[in-house]
Amino acid sequence: MPGLRHWQCPPETLNFSPHPQILNLLMAKKKMVVLTGAGISAESGLRTFRDSDGLWEGFDVTEVATPRGWRKDPSLVLEFYNQRRKNVLEASPNAAHHGLAELEKHFDVQIITQNIDDLHERAGSTQVLHLHGEIFKMRSEVNEELVYEIRTDILLGDKAEDGAQLRPHIVWFEEPVPMIEKAAMITARADIFVVVGTSLVVYPAAGLVNFTPHRIPKYIIDKKIPSVSSVHNLTTIEKPATEGVKEFIEMVMGFEV
Ligand code: APR
Repeated sequence: MPGLRHWQCPPETLNFSPHPQILNLLMAKKKMVVLTGAGISAESGLRTFRDSDGLWEGFDVTEVATPRGWRKDPSLVLEFYNQRRKNVLEASPNAAHHGLAELEKHFDVQIITQNIDDLHERAGSTQVLHLHGEIFKMRSEVNEELVYEIRTDILLGDKAEDGAQLRPHIVWFEEPVPMIEKAAMITARADIFVVVGTSLVVYPAAGLVNFTPHRIPKYIIDKKIPSVSSVHNLTTIEKPATEGVKEFIEMVMGFEV
C-alpha cells in the first residue's frame, strides 16, 4: 500500500524524545503562591498581632515598631525584638508549615510571608520571601545593605562595620516595604493563590490579592475569614491553619493526605 509509506517511521525515530523546551512545558509544575501571616504560626505558640491575646497587648505599637519609637527608646525596641527572637527559637514549625513545604513535590510553591519567624524555612520550604523582615537578621541603622545574622540579643552599643548602631532587620510601620514589587510580580504569575492566617489589614501586603490573575483559583484559610471584597473564584476554609492547610491540600491533590 504505497499511501501508507508516509506514516511509517524509520527505526531511529521510534525512540522519540521531545525537544527540551517542549519537555519543560509538559513537565512544568503549576505556580502556587502562598501569602502567610501570623495565624500560620499561632499553633506553633507564636502569638498573632490582632487577636485578643495579641502581641501588641501591653506594648504600644508606635513605641516598638516605628522609626519614631526607635529614636525615642532604642533599648525598649531592642528588648521587644530580643524577646521575639527567643520566642521563635523556642518554637517549631507546625503541620501547616510542613504541609506547604510538602506541596513543593507537586507545585512550584512560592511563599510570601509577613512573618519574621523562620518556620517556613525550618519546615523545608525553599522559596520564601519575607515582606516584613527577619528576626534572625540585624542591620546598621543607617545602611540597610549592611545585614548580619543574629541568633542572640542585640544590645545598645552593638555596632555595624560602618560604626552605626545595629537594629533588627524588620520593616517597621511607616517604613517602605522593599520586597513588595518582587512579591507583586510573583503574584501576577500565580496559577493558584492561597492566603493563610492574615487579617489582611496591613498594606501593601494585603493588596497583593489584587495582583492575582482574575481567572485563577484563590483560597483563604483562616480561623476567622477576613472580609475581602470582589475576589473572583474564591474558596474559603474557616479553620485553624493546621486543619485548613490539610483540607486545602486534599482539595488540590484530589485525595486524602
Ligand atoms: N489558624 C489560622 N488563622 C489564625 C489562627 C490559626 N490558628 N489564629 C489566628 N488566625 C488568624 C486571625 O483570624 C487573623 O486573621 O490570623 C490572622 C492574624 O492577623 P494579624 O494578627 O493581624 O497578623 P497579620 O495579618 O500577619 O499582621 C500583618 O501587621 O503588625 C503587622 O508587621 C506585622 O506582619 C504583621 C502585619
